[in-house]
Amino acid sequence: MSDRLTIPRPDDMHLHLRDGAMLAGVLPETARHFGRAIIMPNLVPPVVTMAEAQAYRARIMAALPKGADFTPLMTLYLTEGTDAADVAAAHSAGLIHAVKLYPAGATTNSHGGVRDITRVLPVLEKMAEIGLPLCIHGEVTDPDVDIFDREAVFIDTVLDPLRRRLPQLRVVMEHITTSQGVDYARTGGDSLAATITTHHLIINRNHILAGGIKPHYYCLPVAKRESHRLALRAAATSGEARFFLGTDSAPHIDALKEHACGCAGCFTATNTMPLLAHVFEEMGALDRLAGFTSRFGAAFYGLPVSGKTLTLTKSAAPTIWPEKLDTGAGPVTIFNPGFPVFWQVAD
Ligand code: NCD
Ligand code: ZN
Repeated sequence: MSDRLTIPRPDDMHLHLRDGAMLAGVLPETARHFGRAIIMPNLVPPVVTMAEAQAYRARIMAALPKGADFTPLMTLYLTEGTDAADVAAAHSAGLIHAVKLYPAGATTNSHGGVRDITRVLPVLEKMAEIGLPLCIHGEVTDPDVDIFDREAVFIDTVLDPLRRRLPQLRVVMEHITTSQGVDYARTGGDSLAATITTHHLIINRNHILAGGIKPHYYCLPVAKRESHRLALRAAATSGEARFFLGTDSAPHIDALKEHACGCAGCFTATNTMPLLAHVFEEMGALDRLAGFTSRFGAAFYGLPVSGKTLTLTKSAAPTIWPEKLDTGAGPVTIFNPGFPVFWQVAD
């Protein structure tokens, strides 16, 4: 059994950095291990235009620790008022790498998202033409649909019809949580991919709800039953290039997580790489970790694999992380896998 693994510097293809004091607090956690990340645009107010993405990128660059080797890959938040020409200009300027579709009301800061997908077809047609990927939060918002079924229903009623209508559109199914998501991702060719988070490889819905409610395991899409977690593990460790890492690390201060109406999001930026080494080793697939974290996402987004490396080592004693990250916005609880992890990132 190997206790040392060197991989190309990884990319996080789905990351929430927020803004202001929270951005300053969480950014170093990602920049320490990751060379690039697809930056989610669900700020308040959201990052809708090229000018807003430029300004947000500048704030991220200003918040980077000195000497950090990190490139934010910007995205735009799709609204029913989005201007296709502005999207195309942001893409041809090299500023944005994707557009994010949030069904209105599906998750944190999604109320400005899309209610009626036919209203954004002109933008999607332009994106298909220029090869700009659409990252999709794939859940329906219909209150009559059970929250555990919202991903599967979205695939059948929104995603599949959309892809039949616009087969050229490049699509990333973000943070898939179900075996239906895994199966559907496999039906697509090179134009379809899916990100998988670290936490969905580790928790199922019992972790959230059994033996007392655990707000720090609540995220959206919500973790499903064990059979789905096993399907995600098999997909992530399969070596299929359509599945790659998007941590969806989504910081909220503890006061808003431990609340009568707690926010959705798990904060995994700090310990994602050791946790993934643990999971991949458990699956007998350590040799496939580099594909999942460092090669397949880059390939989908048309980026070179990093020339830098990251080394993970395994010790006899468990790795200890602080329970919380103190940010200027308040404390953020670091994802606790609930089992000892012996991997760490070597400096
Ligand atoms: C994300 C957030 O907090 O911005 N929350 C989450 O539970 N994943 C939004 C999202 O990606 O759904
Ligand atoms: Zn997210």
